[in-house]
Amino acid sequence: MKDENFLKANNARSLWHPMTAPSDSLKNPPAIITSASGVRIKDVDGHEVVDAVGGLWNVNLGYSCQPIKDAIAAQLDALPYYSIFRGTSNDKVIELAEELRDFFAPDGLTRAFYTSGGSDSVETALRLARQYHKIKGEPGRIKYLSLKKGYHGTHFGGASVNGNANFRTPYEPLLPGCHHIPAPFPYRNPFNESDPAKLAQLCLQALEDEIAFQGAGTIAAFIMEPVLGAGGVIPPHESFMPGVAAICRKNGILLIADEVITAFGRTGAWTGSRLWGVQPDFSCTAKAITNAYFPFGAVMIAESVAEVFEKDESGKAAIGHGYTYSGHPVGAAAALATLAETKRLNVKDNAAARGKQLFDGLKALKDKYSAIGDVRGGHGLMLAIEMVSDRATKAAPDKAMPGRVQKVAL
Ligand SMILES: Cc1ncc(COP(=O)(O)O)c(C=O)c1O
Repeated sequence: MKDENFLKANNARSLWHPMTAPSDSLKNPPAIITSASGVRIKDVDGHEVVDAVGGLWNVNLGYSCQPIKDAIAAQLDALPYYSIFRGTSNDKVIELAEELRDFFAPDGLTRAFYTSGGSDSVETALRLARQYHKIKGEPGRIKYLSLKKGYHGTHFGGASVNGNANFRTPYEPLLPGCHHIPAPFPYRNPFNESDPAKLAQLCLQALEDEIAFQGAGTIAAFIMEPVLGAGGVIPPHESFMPGVAAICRKNGILLIADEVITAFGRTGAWTGSRLWGVQPDFSCTAKAITNAYFPFGAVMIAESVAEVFEKDESGKAAIGHGYTYSGHPVGAAAALATLAETKRLNVKDNAAARGKQLFDGLKALKDKYSAIGDVRGGHGLMLAIEMVSDRATKAAPDKAMPGRVQKVAL
């Protein structure tokens, strides 16, 4: 490692950080993380903290998971790379697909399409959803519906179904045919409705209204996170996702569950869809599938969708989509080891128990500090504190406040 002075002097000088302004990184150099162990990360000055976010919600098993490291090392020796485009495959992707099929059986998802991460998984599901309708003879179904406040990564398709202006405005114009409905977010919503069950019904009505307005026959898919993550942790009322699924089914619209954060136990259930008793048509996964040790993802596909592709002999079902690293053998080996550890450690039950403990703690903090406007959680380890400058108006805090809290905590 270069010495500490070199790192501090050059921090942000020759690189741009994602999701921040270059000028900000220059003015407020980020903490330089140089090691991690268990659930703790350490910076170049030796400060050590519990990493409560788990990387970017992806290090579900912590930083010292030896079986995954061993699996990666062994795979690098056996076969560090080969493509699974037409004509070749590898042992690890085959084994992993069987494991994933078992894991996602209760969700009705029986095929895997491999990707290099969450944005790729979203893009894959959006594209395959359009193709599904073309194979079935409904080429007019090309639009997408999604939730305001939803986050679906940063590729053009994902950004277009995104519901946060920060990830949209600088990159517009986005994909045409993407329409958004209000999120079931009791703390802030256009209906001024704070009752979660009533709000869920209002949002479902808005969905039905939008479908009638657009014409069901023009819509390919609805995409949502089972618990909204990057939009500020918004757990919908339990009636919401089943309601969405029923409306989609009635209108021939495919349901894409974006489980990039929620799959593999984080919500206290093995998947977010299972938490709500919903079987989606596609499920986008990534992040914790390899415990972050290798960039990897998988789109899981429902049996009914798979059949449409697999039975087609017309050529329309040829998949003209895939990434150089789709089915990377090292990623697949990492995922196999991660899945085994995730099940062995029963991560979902631990997430539920630790999540309850943290939720109770955060609610107690809310009683103590007026700067906390809302505390959200209740479903495993997905929790948030929303800070405000005034509880009555819910006005945002001054911009420096979250940074100040982070600095003090660190
Ligand atoms: C729900 C959801 N979808 C998609 C993505 C994009 O994943 P990636 O950053 O791996 O491309 C994220 C990332 O946080 C996410 O939370």
